[in-house]
Amino acid sequence: MSEIVLFEQVDRVAILTINRPDKMNALSEEVRSQMLAHLERIESDDSIGVVVLTGAGEKAFIAGADIGEFAGRSPFDQRLAMRSPRIFDVMASYPKPVIAMINGYCLGGGCELSMSCDIRVASNKASFGQPEINLGLIPGGGGTQRMPRLVGAGQAMRLILSGDRIAADEAKQIGLVDLVFAHEELRAKTLDLAQRIASRSPLTLKVAKEAIRASERLAIEEGLLYERDLFCLCFSSEDKKEGVAAFLEKRPATWTGR
Ligand code: COA
Repeated sequence: MSEIVLFEQVDRVAILTINRPDKMNALSEEVRSQMLAHLERIESDDSIGVVVLTGAGEKAFIAGADIGEFAGRSPFDQRLAMRSPRIFDVMASYPKPVIAMINGYCLGGGCELSMSCDIRVASNKASFGQPEINLGLIPGGGGTQRMPRLVGAGQAMRLILSGDRIAADEAKQIGLVDLVFAHEELRAKTLDLAQRIASRSPLTLKVAKEAIRASERLAIEEGLLYERDLFCLCFSSEDKKEGVAAFLEKRPATWTGR
């Protein structure tokens, strides 16, 4: 199997790079299955705290699903290609933090995959859009559901109905990305953030993610109650005892993830 998803580990951060720059890193079936295999292995690797997802080359993060695979497909073939586990859902419920490092075109399924990640960090050269409307399609990787939650229904309508592409600054302004850096600084700044997050207790990161993700499905009263339960659950961990003791003893904490 040729490596179209590259794996690299820098300290406690894994970097997954989609490596089809000549095809703008389009999400083919093979890309998706290699990504799923990497994510499954990384999940149980305690030496990795955070995952960074990016695209190879200077032009694209991911320019969407592989359009070539759509040609000649029946609805049945397509439904089969969209069977679980889907990369978008695996990413959205992944127990470790995932950062999308968006280095260029972030379109269609690429934009949807970035929205499944926990944090979106973009190059000032990146651009964003859901161009499916131009193919007689609608987003099928969660775009109609995740985009309005991030940017509001009006902006989601505008982007999905027009197929327009927007620049990184505008994406930041409407909340589609969280941070924008100069292109040359993207990797260093993203890794800096990733390492900082990866230096925290892996157990507490998991609980914090669970609480924030729950806000997507729970009403505010239920969400606040859930947060309180999870907060109190943290009192059963060794990392909570260590964190509090380290603060009181004016020393850095050593996390065990228990
Ligand atoms: N699926 C399959 N192939 C893709 C692709 C995709 N989503 N996006 C780009 N490619 C391929 C092109 O077909 C081309 O292949 P070729 O060299 O064999 O002809 C190659 O990548 C380079 O793309 P090209 O269009 O020549 O580059 P560009 O710089 O002129 O434009 C884009 C870049 C991203 C704006 C343009 O490729 C594009 O609009 N892609 C489709 C985006 C899209 O509709 N995504 C939603 C899919 S549901």
